[in-house]
Amino acid sequence: MLIKSPPTSAERESDVTPEAVYLSRRRFMIAAGGLAAMGALPLRAESQRYVDVEPAAAPAWFADKLAEVRWGAITPGEEALTPFKDVTHYNNFYEFGTSKGDPARYADKLEVEPWAVMIDGAVAKPGLVSLGGLVGPHQLEERIYRLRCVEGWSMVIPWLGFPLSALLKLAEPTGQAKYVRFETKVAAEQMAGVRSGFSLIDWPYVEGLRMDEAMHPLTILAVGLYGRVLPNQNGAPLRLVVPWKYGFKSIKSIVRISLLEEQPRTTWEGLAPDEYGFYANVNPGVDHPRWSQANERRLPGSLFRPNVIPTRLFNGYDEVAALYSGLDLRRYY
Ligand code: MTE
Repeated sequence: MLIKSPPTSAERESDVTPEAVYLSRRRFMIAAGGLAAMGALPLRAESQRYVDVEPAAAPAWFADKLAEVRWGAITPGEEALTPFKDVTHYNNFYEFGTSKGDPARYADKLEVEPWAVMIDGAVAKPGLVSLGGLVGPHQLEERIYRLRCVEGWSMVIPWLGFPLSALLKLAEPTGQAKYVRFETKVAAEQMAGVRSGFSLIDWPYVEGLRMDEAMHPLTILAVGLYGRVLPNQNGAPLRLVVPWKYGFKSIKSIVRISLLEEQPRTTWEGLAPDEYGFYANVNPGVDHPRWSQANERRLPGSLFRPNVIPTRLFNGYDEVAALYSGLDLRRYY
């Protein structure tokens, strides 16, 4: 996401469970015909899902959660998953640089242990919560969502997460809570993009949702993808995923969640309000001022086979339309 030019596109040893152990268990379940336990996905997709996934050590809190995942809780029908390699090597995470390969190259510097999230603002139960404490009460679900970037590319990603609404309910929002504001960690010594004198972003990266959007069952906090803990470049250890909105709303590496009465000022809207709105609902009928939003490049593709498909209103998640009845989507883009 560039402003004025076209887009280019520590855990301790004792705390970890080798991901390979888990992955081989998954493969065994598939081979043993455990399809029912996996949800209604066709065997072909299921058996291909975890091939070529880079193994990673999982922190203890994550390993515990894997035992009770609801696999295939939401699936995109016949759409193919974007390969793990593309999901983890074609990223936007400006804290680590502006080219698509920078996050995979540099995000290993991000320290994700220990991690805590401040929950504050219009809630009866504010406080700093450890990551384990925050994830602990929730069953993880596999949600296979389309991700449509405002730049015109898209992916299909199998996330592991839980509804944001479940977390917010535990914090007990007060009557003043009309919006939710999210903030990403800032640590210049770990983040090459933050250190860079060329960045236009006023860190931290901030995003926001209206309360009803935040409480919608499709809105999740993700802690994993492809059956493994979230890679740093994808926003470890905790990120938002709002599948009907352009990808920039899905803020990574969250350290603060605040409930507010007023609409928060968000990063991209603040930088270029004519180009990036607060709502940012995927909408093929409302073009970006500098490019069409009618189609998207579904990754992976190539120069000769760009794999262009039509973009759908709300990224195909029609069930959210009721959130916007009566709202002029051209004005509130
Ligand atoms: N969150 C932070 N903190 N910094 C970022 O630069 N980029 C956003 C979003 N979340 C971004 C961010 C954009 S523009 C997109 S498209 C998605 O992350 C990309 O997510 P992915 O790299 O996991 O595909």
